Amino acid sequence: MIGLRPLIEWPLVAALVGLFGTAAFVLLASEEGSFNLQQSVSPLLPWWRIAALVILVTASCMMLDVTASMAGVDWKGALPLFTEVLTETHAGHVWQWYLSAMIALVIFTFLPTRQSVRVPAILGLSALVIFLQAELSHATDKGSLAVVVYFLHAAAAGLWFGALLAFWIVQRRGAPPSEWVARAALKVSKSAGWTVAILILTGIYTAYHGLGFDLYHLLYSAYGRTLLAKVAVFSLVLPIGAYNRYRLIPEINGASAQKSLVRNVGIESLILAVGVLGLAAVLANTPPAHGHVMPPGMQMHM
Ligand code: HEM
Repeated sequence: MIGLRPLIEWPLVAALVGLFGTAAFVLLASEEGSFNLQQSVSPLLPWWRIAALVILVTASCMMLDVTASMAGVDWKGALPLFTEVLTETHAGHVWQWYLSAMIALVIFTFLPTRQSVRVPAILGLSALVIFLQAELSHATDKGSLAVVVYFLHAAAAGLWFGALLAFWIVQRRGAPPSEWVARAALKVSKSAGWTVAILILTGIYTAYHGLGFDLYHLLYSAYGRTLLAKVAVFSLVLPIGAYNRYRLIPEINGASAQKSLVRNVGIESLILAVGVLGLAAVLANTPPAHGHVMPPGMQMHM
């Protein structure tokens, strides 16, 4: 039921890159004395727990769905075949790591422990799962450099989306001092600059693998059109980011600039979470137009 897969992959990818990026933001923005790690984590922790459970459920559904399509059966018929796929296929070998990492993610989001232990654990484990996700993607057909670039693309997406989302949640739920908000806003703005640059460069490289330098493929293939839609929605966010950076950040010590920034960051996060990541999930489940043989994860690599 490949048709369902983008609907499973979207919450998986949004939860995964969101968890990675918000954990990175907390380490970047928390400051001893004014707004420490404990204070910046507490408004995010309930979201992290939900995200970890969403990853556990949706990734398990993805594994079952891929097993079902490999064997040409439905989910019920796929259950008894799961162990064989786990031990006999490339996807299965990757899933063995994936399963352990995502269970550890759930444990570290629920475990009563110090934030100085929890946050780096969440950051490291979610980075590992993003890498394993890249190993299961179309990039796996194009070699290890393509897999690393795919990982960097998804990680940069997480750092940008996560910084915006964490800033919005902490500001709305954590009552941080306005001096902290001003400093955090500068950090978000600075990191947005280079994460967006990495996103575009790695996105173009990955798109080349999916389309080649072929305008016909870009304009008329399902993969090309989905990519164009994704870039179009992405370009809706850029002017909002530019307005924040060049109009609001220079005035960020003022209450009204802070209020407008939080509103705009909320809008950016929503467009990225629904529009861009939704289309990224569709793209990841659309056969590339260029030089592609078998759907990802369906090869029997002995
Ligand atoms: C110029 C802009 C961009 C280009 C050209 C681009 C291109 C791509 C391509 C070709 C893929 C691989 C799909 C596949 O075959 O599996 C991809 C995946 C992805 N992109 Fe982008 N992208 C861009 C911007 C973004 C932005 C702004 C975000 C989010 C903030 C984003 C998030 C992702 C994610 C998370 C994936 C992995 C999806 C998955 O594993 O399910 N991309 N992108």
